[in-house]
Amino acid sequence: MTDPTNLPDPMDPLDDLRTSAPARIEAAETVAELDAIEVETVGRQSPIALARRGLGAIEDPDARRNEGLRINELASALSDAIDRRRAELASAELAVALAEDRVDVTAPGRRIERGSVHLIQETMDEIVDIFVGLGYTMATGPEAESEFYNFTALNIPSTHPTRLESDTLYLDYGEEQEEVLLRTHTSPMQARYMEEHEPPVYVVVPGRAFRADVMDATHLPVFHQIEGLAVDENITFGDLKGTLAAFAKEFLGSETKVKFIPHYFPFTEPSAEMHAYAHGQWLELMGCGMVNPAVFEHVGYDPDRLSGFAFGMGAERLAMVRHGITDMRTLADADIRVLEQYR
Ligand code: DAH
Repeated sequence: MTDPTNLPDPMDPLDDLRTSAPARIEAAETVAELDAIEVETVGRQSPIALARRGLGAIEDPDARRNEGLRINELASALSDAIDRRRAELASAELAVALAEDRVDVTAPGRRIERGSVHLIQETMDEIVDIFVGLGYTMATGPEAESEFYNFTALNIPSTHPTRLESDTLYLDYGEEQEEVLLRTHTSPMQARYMEEHEPPVYVVVPGRAFRADVMDATHLPVFHQIEGLAVDENITFGDLKGTLAAFAKEFLGSETKVKFIPHYFPFTEPSAEMHAYAHGQWLELMGCGMVNPAVFEHVGYDPDRLSGFAFGMGAERLAMVRHGITDMRTLADADIRVLEQYR
């Protein structure tokens, strides 16, 4: 069976393998491709394996031994070539993987869009900060409020039209419950705060308020107010004017002029509206007045010893005055392009 001339015998599958396999191994481009070639050339179904299985059929011992050697030689030559090529490919593939995974630490970072505080929240924070600077503390109260704190404790008569369902949003907790409503202003915290605290009181209360209003350029059904209350001995209308004028100068600029126009609120007596001169015109900033003794009586404060002033302003309105915004609906709009202008 050995070829004495040592020339490849085209009919011998091992010779065919010997001549063609080394080039195929060298040409393999990937480890996977090489694995396939390995199965084909030295695997269990390969010509080499078949030849090994055929050895037993060779009767002559010398011929059988020679043939065995020839098979083993070829098998180990091919296995060596495959191992070499595999090592080459593996290191090349690793180099590619490393190059692809390389992190460029000098590349610019991905920017994350930063949000910001809403203009109304910012306005409320700023107003509260101004009063905190004047020595006030801050408190908050419930949005679902009883009729007592929202109206009765504030000396608002039971016949007052603001109590009607056309103005006030009532919550339905059933018949036997006291009427519960969405507070129509932040003023109910006046009585709540005085009930819980001994005088003197210097407090501001930011928060949401609700009215059965249709949205238009100057009304929102959900809006924000900042309530203020100062109660002490010998508080006068002069203190009210000085405090609120100082606030206006902080909020709108040190040159800001203010004026007080008589007005009516059941919970203050006398009452006024404070207007400020801004953008070439007089604009209403807030309601205010001296605390009505009737309110003190509701909370057990002595009206003969104590006096005080109160004020309430709309955050939307103050933001509009400050920024020259003419339509309040802008502030309830979800379009961030609008809000970005006031960052
Ligand atoms: N609560 C009033 C409103 O919503 C605003 C107000 C006026 C509050 C006068 C006060 C005040 O504390 O003294 O229209």
